[in-house]
Amino acid sequence: MTQDQAKLLAARRAMEFVSDGMKIGLGTGTTSTLFIHELGKAVRDGLSIEAIATSDESAKLASELGIKLTSFQDTPVLDVNVDGADEIGPGLALTKGGHGALLHEKIVASAAKKFIVVADDTKVVAKLGKFPLPVEVIQLASPLVIRRLKDLRLNPLLRMSANGGKPWLTDEGNFILDCHCGQIDNPEETAAEIRSIVGVVEHGLFLGMATLALIAGEKGVQELDR
Ligand code: 5RP
Repeated sequence: MTQDQAKLLAARRAMEFVSDGMKIGLGTGTTSTLFIHELGKAVRDGLSIEAIATSDESAKLASELGIKLTSFQDTPVLDVNVDGADEIGPGLALTKGGHGALLHEKIVASAAKKFIVVADDTKVVAKLGKFPLPVEVIQLASPLVIRRLKDLRLNPLLRMSANGGKPWLTDEGNFILDCHCGQIDNPEETAAEIRSIVGVVEHGLFLGMATLALIAGEKGVQELDR
């Protein structure tokens, strides 16, 4: 089974947690995109749901597929949020933000009664940290934040756009610093240290947020909970 096939399997399993009338959070990334397509098919077949997306990209795709989008003004509580992850550690501690949508992803996750992670089994790790930890920062503060993150030995690198010339920008117009910190022994402590730096908007550690992970691999889909 390829990684893409596993992602599709997880996305399809997530559809079992969706029912008529639900308000749904839509993640960002390749696995979430597969889920949005599955949801779009179900909507075409008559499913009635409303959604809030975690990025402009996912919102655009959802609209194109006929999924009705709502807002936090009208829908402050979501029944379920379905999103991918870059790493899934013990207790469903996650690293997210590989596609740079961590801020909106965390906001949407915080509004959901259930947060279901969809992923292939390469994402499951004994300790977080191999995947660089993304930190979203205000542009003006980025040199200061970089200094502080270096002091914490988190090895930040400014994320650049694909053509290399300019820093990559989030949907909010902020920069992303990818921290090549290596194994994170105490995610809560690391999260608190990063959070305390003025100019940091959000970081990609999602702790105590996910309620279930659907992990797909050769043996099918495994359900992990906290
Ligand atoms: C986006 C994310 C994604 O969920 C994460 O990067 C996983 O992506 P993919 O499903 O493409 O492997 O956090 O900011």
